[in-house]
Amino acid sequence: MIRITLLTALTTVTLMVASAATASAGELFQFPDGFLWGTATAAHQTEGDNKNSDWWEWEKQPGNIANGDRSGGASDHYRRYAEDLKLARQMGHNAYRFSIEWARIEPEEGRFDEAQINHYRSVLESCHENGLTPMVTLFHFTLPQWLSDQGGWSSKNIVARFERFARFAGERLGDKVDLWCTLNEPVVYLGAAHAVGLFPPGQKGMGRAANVMARMAKGHVAAFRALREADTVDIDGDGKATLIGVAKHLRVFQPARRNNPLDHVAARFSAFSFNRAFMIAITGGKLLLNVPGLPHLNERIHAGEPTLDYVGVNYYSRDLVKFNVKTPGLVDRLVPEGAPVTDMGWEIYPEGFYRVLMETWKSYKLPIIVTENGMADARDLQRPGFLQSHLEAMARAMRDGVPVKGYLHWSLLDNFEWLEGFAPRFGLLKIDYRTQSRKKTGTARLYSSIIGSNSIEIGSTDEE
Ligand code: FCB
Repeated sequence: MIRITLLTALTTVTLMVASAATASAGELFQFPDGFLWGTATAAHQTEGDNKNSDWWEWEKQPGNIANGDRSGGASDHYRRYAEDLKLARQMGHNAYRFSIEWARIEPEEGRFDEAQINHYRSVLESCHENGLTPMVTLFHFTLPQWLSDQGGWSSKNIVARFERFARFAGERLGDKVDLWCTLNEPVVYLGAAHAVGLFPPGQKGMGRAANVMARMAKGHVAAFRALREADTVDIDGDGKATLIGVAKHLRVFQPARRNNPLDHVAARFSAFSFNRAFMIAITGGKLLLNVPGLPHLNERIHAGEPTLDYVGVNYYSRDLVKFNVKTPGLVDRLVPEGAPVTDMGWEIYPEGFYRVLMETWKSYKLPIIVTENGMADARDLQRPGFLQSHLEAMARAMRDGVPVKGYLHWSLLDNFEWLEGFAPRFGLLKIDYRTQSRKKTGTARLYSSIIGSNSIEIGSTDEE
């Protein structure tokens, strides 16, 4: 059982859930030409030696990371990126999402490191040499230590600092990037870093976390504008120099007990606060939070101009939500009895992927890129089935009208999984951390064959 705070308990708006669709057995779905097929990674999880970041310090404190793991050399991707991107090409991929590390690029306040930005230029060149369309993430959970010391995303300065960083990235990398992702999983991050204190800067408290949501929404908008202005080079000739989005973690929330009205309410609150509030803020321009016991927020985020070109969907699982009688404001999140789970205990629930894609399209009417989807499976036993069933779910959503433009599997290679350290294995490439050698998994081969045919057979579904 996982207990999470209901920062999640944020308003009374009801929403979702798209009804499960059924497909006839054996239908062949053809993906569109130019569909983006690839993987996603994050700098801190893969590069190694990220010494100026707030996670580097955080990992040193006993109890913060499982087994006392520290990211250390991680997957050595900082040095081996060329080899890794070549492997991605050999596997047939045509896209790669990665993050640039703010802590490397601006190691001290206002000092931008030329060598580091040139490093990322080289990574981008390597993407292009290998036929991989790059997607660059600006913020993927790590901050420079100096900024974290100021309170990170809770600090008043953060929006201006993030805007400056985004502008610098746009100016210096824009001739090699069209596809940008400002923030990775803002709501996961603000919950972990500012509500329950499990990520640096380790702040606890619901009130502050609600304000951080407003800051992150404003940060996205500021970065969006800065990238639009700074990056004017259209490298793929589609008439657009930038396509800018966020990677939003989206889950299915359902009441744990069908006949319990409080569970229904808790599931709706969770879905609104986790899936929707931030997205409504950046698309509609207003962050509205109105929950008893929390500060009332009615904050203007922008004046109504477009601030999102695509929605990045990170999909992993669903939660059965149980109202917590002892501590209202907290909910218990459960996995259904007997359900298949990953090495991290997350339920494997491909039908939820279909639902999330349908709901996202209906809500925002924007193109979608799947920016993460994957599972921890050290022995790579369940992952082939996971990949197949999730791609089928995605294909069904596309057949039913959802404009999905690409799928980026998490992850290219095994890496440092935040609080869980190195034990979870998410990679298509399995790493032997003693030698840093990479080995293709069975899932990697299955993925290559699906990419090769650019099609998938949609099996029958027997979901409720
Ligand atoms: C997502 C994160 C990513 C990775 C996967 C497993 O929530 O964005 O960095 O940790 O989960």
